[in-house]
Amino acid sequence: MSVNILAIESSCDETACAIIQDGRKELVNIIASQAELFSKYGGVVPEIASRKHVELIIPVINEAITKANCNIDAIAVTKGPGLVGALLVGIQAAKGLAYALKKPLIGVNHLHGHIAANFIGNKTIKPPFICLLVSGGHSHVLHVLDYNTIITLGRTRDDAAGEAFDKIARAIGLGYPGGPKVDEMAKKGNPLAINFPRSKFKDNPYDFSFSGLKTSVLNFVNQRVQKNESIVVEDVCASFQKAVSDVLIKNTLLAAKTTNLDTIVLAGGVAANTYLRSEMNKACEKEGLNVHYPPIKYCTDNAAMIGSFAYYQYINSDFSDMSLNAQPSLKL
Ligand code: KG4
Ligand code: ZN
Repeated sequence: MSVNILAIESSCDETACAIIQDGRKELVNIIASQAELFSKYGGVVPEIASRKHVELIIPVINEAITKANCNIDAIAVTKGPGLVGALLVGIQAAKGLAYALKKPLIGVNHLHGHIAANFIGNKTIKPPFICLLVSGGHSHVLHVLDYNTIITLGRTRDDAAGEAFDKIARAIGLGYPGGPKVDEMAKKGNPLAINFPRSKFKDNPYDFSFSGLKTSVLNFVNQRVQKNESIVVEDVCASFQKAVSDVLIKNTLLAAKTTNLDTIVLAGGVAANTYLRSEMNKACEKEGLNVHYPPIKYCTDNAAMIGSFAYYQYINSDFSDMSLNAQPSLKL
């Protein structure tokens, strides 16, 4: 008997609902993005995001249920990390559905969801593997031993990789969200044009830092502007993107080597980055490692990934009760 899980995601600026079968098959995946709304503010405004979620959540759930037209075995929802007001909208909707339909409720860690994005539509990939999880709020090198045992080997000591993309994009006038815009610009630029700094930590070789890199890019741009010199935005984007990707790839490959694992998976919004994907491919091919990354639509926030991970909680009877609450700072 297959298990259909209806999953809700509302941790930031995407209101999303999906129905996933047995953790791997997408029956329906609806995403209402607020990104365009926030482009005029240059970033997410939490209070506006919460209000937008309230408007969108019922239509999005209705659309998913109507399109899939199937039985539902459990209701899953992102419990954190994320914006508290945004998370609460999804959680209250999930509780209401679980109560009315008399189905189990499953609270899912958003970061587990990002990792599980790799499982959708893929029957073969399973732990153990090394996961590079890079999003707007997190940058982690993870040793995924099995579905429920995940060791954090390295993490960012300051800004997340996606945050650095967004801040650079804003500074050079590309708007929000910055990652996809820098990615596009960089395609026309020279990654070797400017040698931006790469972080390195002696006490933990898997850790990252992107704040110094961000400052260095901003100084480069400001100095040129003050001297009335022109900048080649494409080169700035390509060189910045290379500096980020170099450390992400180096630390992830080191993790695979020291844990003796031959599979690397990418996850999170930054895993959508064209340059990172292609350079990671090249590096893994050279080292004889397997690399997987989710289709772009599963890299950035979505509910399908929440439904996928929820399945592994379902088979372990890892359910939540009606006291489930938002956990804005939830860790792995
Ligand atoms: O996973 P996600 O949707 O949300 C969080 O959980 O944070 O990640 C969003 C982040 C943003 O910082 C966005 O700029 C970045 O992912 N991003 C990208 C690309 N697409 C999205 N960064 C680099 N290149 C991309 N193509
Ligand atoms: Zn996310």
